[in-house]
Amino acid sequence: MPVPPTNPLPTTTTPGRFPTGFLWGAATSAYQIEGAAAEDGRTASIWDTFCRTPGKVHQGDTGEVSVDHYHRFREDVRLMAELGLKAYRFSISWPRVQPTGHGPGVQQGLDFYRRLVDELLAAGITPVATLYHWDLPQELEQAGGWPERATAERFAEYAALAGEALGDRVSHWTTLNEPWCSAFLGYGSGVHAPGRTDPVAALRAAHHLNLGHGLAVTALRGVLPAAAQLSVSLNLHVVRPLTPSAADQDAARRIDAVGNRVFLGPMLEGAYPEDLLADTAHLTDWSFVRSGDQKEIHQSLDWLGVNYYTPTVVSGTAEGEAPVREDGHGGGTATPWPGADRVGFHPAPGERTAMGWAVDPSGLHELLTGLARRHPGLPLMVTENGAAYEDEVGADGTVDDPERTAYLHSHLEAVQRAVADGADVRGYFAWSLLDNFEWAYGYAKRFGLVHVDYATLNRTPKSSARWYAQVARSGELHP
Ligand code: NOJ
Repeated sequence: MPVPPTNPLPTTTTPGRFPTGFLWGAATSAYQIEGAAAEDGRTASIWDTFCRTPGKVHQGDTGEVSVDHYHRFREDVRLMAELGLKAYRFSISWPRVQPTGHGPGVQQGLDFYRRLVDELLAAGITPVATLYHWDLPQELEQAGGWPERATAERFAEYAALAGEALGDRVSHWTTLNEPWCSAFLGYGSGVHAPGRTDPVAALRAAHHLNLGHGLAVTALRGVLPAAAQLSVSLNLHVVRPLTPSAADQDAARRIDAVGNRVFLGPMLEGAYPEDLLADTAHLTDWSFVRSGDQKEIHQSLDWLGVNYYTPTVVSGTAEGEAPVREDGHGGGTATPWPGADRVGFHPAPGERTAMGWAVDPSGLHELLTGLARRHPGLPLMVTENGAAYEDEVGADGTVDDPERTAYLHSHLEAVQRAVADGADVRGYFAWSLLDNFEWAYGYAKRFGLVHVDYATLNRTPKSSARWYAQVARSGELHP
């Protein structure tokens, strides 16, 4: 059902044209690309520790050197400019700018981001800075990590510090990237750092990430110019019941509660959903939520960042039946879905990427139009979308990746349809600019528009990058 336009921004009537001012970008994150893990005062984050724990990351890969963006950022910004990008979404490494998670900032670390941002601005590229893309200073994990309230308070202090240092240059800010992964993969299934498997800790972490977001928005508003735009990026699950049966629909409701509404509820509506509290009542009474917290979390945002890759298909399974877990984040025997234990996960139909994720652009359309309906007036930004494929370098040194081009094309069409149906989508960021460290999969999965030879660290734009550049330059998508 078409939804009414949510603000006066023009949606264009020219077929194939995206709205004027649409931000065409690519995204990365600090731990996945920077390397220089022990340079200029940076200390360990939970991902450095996790990578050193045997068996946690594919082939023992680490982000120690990664693609060495810390030293090659000028070349990388040049590449972005060549690709016609209008915006670049990156994250600030907390342990690089405030190594212990307390106290004053480290000048060298902050200077790195100043230089990066200056280079972007000189190239006419809008910087979009994420404060937290999963690299908690190890020292804060030692003190209890996200399950503890103090971490949310530390996060707000770090946000103020980063805002003060970069607020004169960066206008677009995102507090957290995919807090679902931080809470539920980090503390629930343990497939991400810090690798804990405790459902109650995962729920506590979700709340303190929410609280950290709210406190950080307040802190940033206190130090940033009034025109600064604040947001959060969520990996919202497009949950589909396997069949229309009541059991499968209830499974979808549960996953929507602990996958999506656990963040959307407090952040956008000011309260945790009643059904989530009921589903998890056997685990916790949520007494870690203090009076005033939900008000603090419920901050007005300038846009919502949406990360989308693939839909999630679920069924309600009878007790004792082993669920088929196909939630796209692999591995682990513990559940990343507290309160939804008897839910089966099923492969979504469609072609698959190298991650095994089904290609289904209709999910992105559904997500954007659904959000526009439920939260009219809140602009949206697709802050991540993309695909891993088994890219190969040809004899002539080029990398031809027609599958990735097709993936991006079909998803951009879905964005365009969502805009035509009234969703106020302000931009799109391909994940990722460069091949990089794909968390527990190490360097085995390549998501980049730009190929990186991990032996030489040479960068080569893939054919998908050339295609994306022409879309970004023209603002038009043709069949
Ligand atoms: C989500 C995360 O934000 C990003 O770090 C990751 O590499 C991509 N999705 C692909 O899995």
